[in-house]
Amino acid sequence: MESLQRISRASELEPFRVRFLGRRGGSLTGIMRRLSEVSKEDRPQLGQLANAVKKEITTLFEEKKKELARKPGIKADKGLDLSLPGRRIPFGKLHPVTQVMEEMCAIFEGMGFAVAEGPDVETDHYNFEALNIPKHHPARDMHDTFYVSDSILLRTHTSPMQARIMETKEPPLRYIAPGKVYRCDSDITHTPMFVQVEGFLVDRDVSFSDLKGVLTSFLQQMFSKDLAVRFRPSFFPFTEPSAEVDIACVICGGKGCRVCKRTGWIEILGAGLIDPEVMKMVGFDPDEFSGFAFGLGVERIAMLKYGINDIRLYYENDLRFLAQF
Ligand code: FA5
Repeated sequence: MESLQRISRASELEPFRVRFLGRRGGSLTGIMRRLSEVSKEDRPQLGQLANAVKKEITTLFEEKKKELARKPGIKADKGLDLSLPGRRIPFGKLHPVTQVMEEMCAIFEGMGFAVAEGPDVETDHYNFEALNIPKHHPARDMHDTFYVSDSILLRTHTSPMQARIMETKEPPLRYIAPGKVYRCDSDITHTPMFVQVEGFLVDRDVSFSDLKGVLTSFLQQMFSKDLAVRFRPSFFPFTEPSAEVDIACVICGGKGCRVCKRTGWIEILGAGLIDPEVMKMVGFDPDEFSGFAFGLGVERIAMLKYGINDIRLYYENDLRFLAQF
């Protein structure tokens, strides 16, 4: 009866019953059937013995069955197998845009920039006036602003951080300011809430070539050394001269597609040398100090990095999409 003692799972009971007690092919049943072959004198004795063995095995089998059914947590009749591996608990991850933002910040920190953060709900003063965009300036139209009241708004860019930091600190300054910004805007390359990384540097003798060097080095570390980058003349009221920077569309390889609006290029940032008017407003002498500033769109960088052809996918909260990163 050793084999019965070794049984530890309900699922092993039935094979045991079939093997010893089964009507067809069970070893005891076989012995009973073959009693007719034994001599008449020995048959009664052997028959009694076989019956006694069958009774004992049946009793022990029933006891084993009850014992297994009593075991805590084991439901013998449902065939629960406790040796199966447990269910995996899925872990959460950082959002892909947050991952890219952190990677971008780490690159700039490696170049000596310190990180600062500011409020999402901003005053009209820091978002516009301190950046040389007075009331009724046409540049305000470009921002599609969400106003909270006449003088309070959701910041439309991270550039207010330039004014906030320059007001409280003295040059030399080298800062980045990552954070959420808001504009009433939505299509395959625009979302109403998106993330920018602002960067600026103020010191003596800062030139446009310093700006170009920092941005080119950043882009080469973020993407690859042979990435095609172009600086295009542009206009921002708080920088002079100003530029926008595009990189070759990775979705179509620069051939032209829906994402790059058939141009082969995607705009990822605005930049320029800090306008002397902005310097004066925070009390810096523009004859002594100069500086550059830039504002990068993090979702655009993330689109190009991962080959995503619609920016809105990042904010639809579809876990099948987000879990890939
Ligand atoms: C600005 O926001 C300026 N503050 C940038 C700047 C900073 C210029 C410092 C000079 C000095 P612009 O509106 O072009 O510029 O936006 C900058 C980047 O944000 C764009 O290149 C783009 O990558 C991204 N961006 C703009 N609007 C959206 C949007 N609705 N959704 C996603 N990304 C956007």
